[in-house]
Amino acid sequence: MCGIIGYVGRRAALPIMMDGLRRLEYRGYDSSGVALVKPEKVTVIKSAGRLSVLEGGLDYDTNLETQGIGHTRWATHGAPTDINAHPHTDSSGKIAIIHNGIIENNRALRTYLEQKGVTFQSDTDTEVLAQLIGQLYDGDLEQAVRLALREVSGTYGIAVVCADEPDLIIAARKGSPLIVGVGQGEHILASDAAAILAHTTQVVYISDNEMARITPDNLRITTLEAIPVAKETEEIEWSLDQIELAGYEHFMLKEIYEQPESLENCLSGRIDLAEGMVHLGGLADCARELARAKRIIVTGCGTAWHAGLVGEYLFEELLRVPTETEYASEFRYRNPVIDDGTIVIAVSQSGETADTQAAIREAKQRGALVLGVVNVVGSTIPRETDAGVYLHVGPEIGVASTKAFTGQVTVLALIASYLGRRKHLSPTAAAQFIKALSEIPDQIRATLQHASTAKQVAQQYANRENWLYLGRGYNYPVALEGALKLKEISYIHAEGLPAAEMKHGPIALITDGMPVVCIATSGTQYNKILSNMSEVRARGGSVIAIATEGDRDIQDVADHVLYVPDTIEPLQPLLTVIPLQLIAYHAAVMRGCNVDKPRNLAKSVTVE
Ligand code: F6R
Repeated sequence: MCGIIGYVGRRAALPIMMDGLRRLEYRGYDSSGVALVKPEKVTVIKSAGRLSVLEGGLDYDTNLETQGIGHTRWATHGAPTDINAHPHTDSSGKIAIIHNGIIENNRALRTYLEQKGVTFQSDTDTEVLAQLIGQLYDGDLEQAVRLALREVSGTYGIAVVCADEPDLIIAARKGSPLIVGVGQGEHILASDAAAILAHTTQVVYISDNEMARITPDNLRITTLEAIPVAKETEEIEWSLDQIELAGYEHFMLKEIYEQPESLENCLSGRIDLAEGMVHLGGLADCARELARAKRIIVTGCGTAWHAGLVGEYLFEELLRVPTETEYASEFRYRNPVIDDGTIVIAVSQSGETADTQAAIREAKQRGALVLGVVNVVGSTIPRETDAGVYLHVGPEIGVASTKAFTGQVTVLALIASYLGRRKHLSPTAAAQFIKALSEIPDQIRATLQHASTAKQVAQQYANRENWLYLGRGYNYPVALEGALKLKEISYIHAEGLPAAEMKHGPIALITDGMPVVCIATSGTQYNKILSNMSEVRARGGSVIAIATEGDRDIQDVADHVLYVPDTIEPLQPLLTVIPLQLIAYHAAVMRGCNVDKPRNLAKSVTVE
């Protein structure tokens, strides 16, 4: 989604802002722009298309202003054109604004402003806000923004500058993230830590319904009602090399290969092998209430929803508590039943997904205890939930979620075991589960050793436009995830199914040579999936099997076999997903797709 950067300090703002915008590219965008501020003048340069187009119109030698704001836009209101790109200015041209989010009452405000004689240049809701601030401006930018925001409904993260008040950025947030990096005689505002990390790890998080008055030497946060808010400066735990390619061709590949380490970080300090115990500090205060839960609803979107589905199987098996996994977008609107004793677990990498946030609000309003399983520290969801567990898998830059999925499944497994011990799980069973979990990072390392087989498979079938993914039990969500990975980055149509469902319709799709990925690791349903594989082959389909190391028999019913080490069934998704991530990656590369920035997609979906 859109990205925000702003700089006030003593250095030239333009290179800092452009570097920041480049680091925000992964979020997805279709146009970009900057506004540079000097006394009496705001210069706006913006264009549709990639950042390189904007870069072509910049002059680093002459644009030495020490204050500015910059934006990458992902179009919502108005096409991705030069005019609709941010920043937008008021009619005087002295006030410029960048905005993430949606101003919902923009039509009414536009009509009101037009009646007052304002002429609009663009189709955007953001220009409406710029013009409104311009109308209310009376020499005090902070006050004008405050008054304007009172008239606005919707979501926003904004940064506003004014030529008459240089060395000042006014920022405000409601539903769209903003953080301020604190440097020596400078502040850097951004929608994402990635844009700041090259300069400082000291940050202040702006919360919803707060405004920030930012100058080179001062940062003052107030509520929208002008009540001062005391804020701690916090340290970002991510490092710069985590958000750089480090020799990999794409972030997605880097993040696939990071999984052994990212899961070690996720598990670190949380499992006690000797005692067979899981420690989750984030749940300590509500552990008793959680253990008494009569029903669990796991919610999220996309990959996070798939991880949640693995969680559903885990919770029912380890806790014996009825669990449902719901798309956040459905949950939020469908009048869900929430009884006493229902807990809701919201899963999200970014912690900013709009539908997941709305589902959390709905659940809380109905009295549920809500947990967050989130990667980005300081994001919105952990602030809105009652308790939670961070993934600690490091920044995920590739748009296709990989290490976040394995991190989410790992945290859900930790929660299942943590609560399981307070319910039905015996010490021995818990210890076995935790031991198996602790072996996963090394088993992923071993799986990655066979990456070349995944590449060969991808190369052989990258030209096929339709794929099926079949799995059973714990591997059914992995089939969904494998199909999602393939479609989102290689634009190949792929469907994931519970293997048995194939016979109820989709089998009609199978034609000669159609790639059908079958997750057939050892376990209770092994023989069943072998039958499904035979059915595929009998119809000419090409079977790509994911199997447990040592299983030679499977070669009789598969055209290709990708092996993963043996583990207990509930943890198999953490291994079986790895070859599927690799297949999707290599297929996309073969097809010449932009792996880290797939078309139409944004990293964090902060609008409905
Ligand atoms: C797919 C993908 C998306 C996200 C979904 C939820 O690779 O990345 O499906 O999983 O948009 O995002 P988060 O986890 O940030 O809430």
